[in-house]
Amino acid sequence: MGKINTHFLVTIYLLYILFNSSVASTCTSQDEQNCEEEKINKYSMEANTKYQKYLQLIKEAKESYKPCNETKCRCHAQVIANDLQVFKKNGISKKLIENVKSKGTKYQIIVNKLYRDKSCMFPARCAGIEHFIFDLLPKLPNMEFIVNTRDWPQIHKQYGIFGPIFSFSKSPDYHDIMYPAWSFWEGGPAISLYPRGIGRWDSHRKKLGKLGNETSWNEKIPKAFFRGSRTSAERDPLVLLSREKPELVNAQYTKNQAWKSDADTLHVPPAKEVSFEEHCKYKYLFNFRGVAASFRFKHILLCKSLVFHVGNEWLEFFYPALKPWIHYIPVEANASKQKLEELIEFTVHHDDIAREIAENGYNLIWNNLRMKDVSCYWSKLLKRYAKLLTYEPVLDATLIEIKKKY
Ligand SMILES: *[C@@H]1O[C@H](CO)[C@@H](O)[C@H](O)[C@H]1NC(C)=O
Ligand SMILES: *[C@@H]1O[C@H](CO)[C@@H](O)[C@H](O)[C@H]1NC(C)=O
Ligand SMILES: *[C@@H]1O[C@H](CO)[C@@H](O)[C@H](O)[C@H]1NC(C)=O
Repeated sequence: MGKINTHFLVTIYLLYILFNSSVASTCTSQDEQNCEEEKINKYSMEANTKYQKYLQLIKEAKESYKPCNETKCRCHAQVIANDLQVFKKNGISKKLIENVKSKGTKYQIIVNKLYRDKSCMFPARCAGIEHFIFDLLPKLPNMEFIVNTRDWPQIHKQYGIFGPIFSFSKSPDYHDIMYPAWSFWEGGPAISLYPRGIGRWDSHRKKLGKLGNETSWNEKIPKAFFRGSRTSAERDPLVLLSREKPELVNAQYTKNQAWKSDADTLHVPPAKEVSFEEHCKYKYLFNFRGVAASFRFKHILLCKSLVFHVGNEWLEFFYPALKPWIHYIPVEANASKQKLEELIEFTVHHDDIAREIAENGYNLIWNNLRMKDVSCYWSKLLKRYAKLLTYEPVLDATLIEIKKKY
């Protein structure tokens, strides 16, 4: 009993300190009542300013936000239900599999063994997928499925080809079923900084997660940061803003394989690629989509910096758990230079809000994107998928058995 009471009192005391320090940090007055008034005045003054719309969006997002249940990868479970919904009524027939067979690599699980087409378009990507399936095999029923290892999804809602195909990323225009990208384990993009691919997520997670906790918010450079190649002109306004206002933004283009001259980096020489760790030194980080979703997103969220996520079309399985204005600042894909500047300045002027969103983003990824969550997602996905098959798959003699390499 005595122990419980002590814990209780300590908790109350800590809450008291926390409350007082958060009040004190937002006003100049020492007196508590003046301080409250000062806060109210500050916010009502802002009521008529350009920032009011953002404060309103944040207020609304907070009101409708329900934190997800973090046990057994439940934060992502709705994504599986949504992606499989279209097959629910009639199930998945052999015919549907035949429809899409040419769009990816065929896999079978028969009596707890894994089989695959002899060749895989991107062997490292197949290996990154198989890694997660091996450990699940003892608990998986018989099934067959087609995995697309390309970057781009395959089943456009309007093309008329229809059937189940697993892809790592999609936009709302596609029926593809999302699976956790190979790059959680291997086969991630290679850039000059990571010539053998970006490497395993579990080691990045530990390193960046630690760095995110150890780098204090106030020590971060108060600028918006971006490095990446010019895969689309969507990134131009930020890079141009950086040239005009280097005190607010540091955004530069790097080379990619297609680079021929400075014209490909918007008429200035390419900048060096920058490690994820280096990103963490900046307070505000920009995430643009790549060919499909960007592999960068989950990494930079672990910096515990504020992430500006541009565009909302391209998804990976864990994106829906991240909510705009709660875990990141959403930015429209067509945002102008002026719009970007206003949004960045809004966060600069609301440091407490920026910090809170940065911490929320970190926590969601840290707590719900562990290797065991990825594995848990694969398990739920395959079990629910297998239930939809309307036939009993038999071993396809053209496939080869894939065994775990030790
Ligand atoms: C999460 O869901 C499980 C199963 O429904 C439940 O036992 C658990 O109490 C829930 N956790 C929270 C924090 O709500
Ligand atoms: C970082 O801090 C959070 C919150 O205190 C904690 O849950 C998490 O385990 C820490 N991460 C690391 C890598 O220590
Ligand atoms: C930008 O895109 C949004 C949809 O994301 C659209 O509503 C808006 O009209 C577009 N704005 C401009 C200037 O094109």
